[in-house]
Amino acid sequence: MKERLEKLQHDALAALRDAADEKALQDARVRFLGKKGELTEVMKGMRDLAPEDRPVVGGLVNTVKEQFEALFTERHEILHQQAINQRLEQERVDVTLPGRKGFAGHKHPVTLVTEEIVALFSRLGFVVEEGPEIEQDFYNFEALNIPKDHPARDMQDTFYISDDLVLRTHTSPVQIRTMLRHQPPVRVIAPGTVYRRDSDLTHSPMFHQIEGFLVDKNITFGDLKGILTHFLKEYFGEDLGVRFRPSFFPFTEPSAEVDIACVICSGKGCRVCKGTGWLEILGSGMIDPEVFRAVDYDSTAYSGFAFGMGLERIAMLKYGVNDLRLFFENDLRFLRQF
Ligand code: DAH
Repeated sequence: MKERLEKLQHDALAALRDAADEKALQDARVRFLGKKGELTEVMKGMRDLAPEDRPVVGGLVNTVKEQFEALFTERHEILHQQAINQRLEQERVDVTLPGRKGFAGHKHPVTLVTEEIVALFSRLGFVVEEGPEIEQDFYNFEALNIPKDHPARDMQDTFYISDDLVLRTHTSPVQIRTMLRHQPPVRVIAPGTVYRRDSDLTHSPMFHQIEGFLVDKNITFGDLKGILTHFLKEYFGEDLGVRFRPSFFPFTEPSAEVDIACVICSGKGCRVCKGTGWLEILGSGMIDPEVFRAVDYDSTAYSGFAFGMGLERIAMLKYGVNDLRLFFENDLRFLRQF
């Protein structure tokens, strides 16, 4: 028995010393002290010994166990430290590498144009209003003097959600929503997303408009002309040619379309202006008394003007972009240029 224990002692300590890593160390522990370990077996066999032999063998077993535990702890510390050092060596951080730059995005060209125009009208005392993109027929058409079955509805190819709900075809319904909530004087600028069943080089089914309107006492067509001319010259340049052409919108009377001298050829005539020298830039007019009636404004006491324009078109002219769809393709090579 004694000899067997001495051999065990020798083997066990040798196994600990030879263990090359933490895993081998744990294996050695299982081999000698595990449930079916060699030393464990010896301890189990103690009850078969003659009673007088037990203290001697027991003492010996304890000594072996203590030596094993002590050496195990010592080896474990060394191998554990070794493992840490090895990882530190492998995973070393190269502090001399240049840092990685965070990716900073920037505003979309349509957002830039929107913000510039809003800022410009804010300086003239206009406040921003917004409305829903899913709009009721009443606000999008009816209250704007575009009755059901009236040919004027054909001016705007519409996405219908139900008989009564549409994706708004213009920002003009914001006029109705605002006037129903506020008594005059009102001075509003209303940017937003609008939708039409249209898609080509210069039309996208989703695009953006900005609406403006002003209602007060004694507002005349002269105010409309003054404000819009000021805006266009501030935005495109002081020497810009501007002209007003008679037009028709159901919600304004009289109505005018506003042209600016072609920003590409300065009015000489080119492909962009189709040789005319002029570019159509916005619709406008004096708010129709029928609209005032729908919102319960007294059209004998008040008058006002309104205007609306497409923001992508403005961005195209401002930045010289020839395909409107580029704004919505999310191609960074395009977007990074702004
Ligand atoms: N809502 C019109 C459109 O989308 C644009 C417009 C024209 C707005 C004249 C106005 C206006 O406020 O007075 O085609």
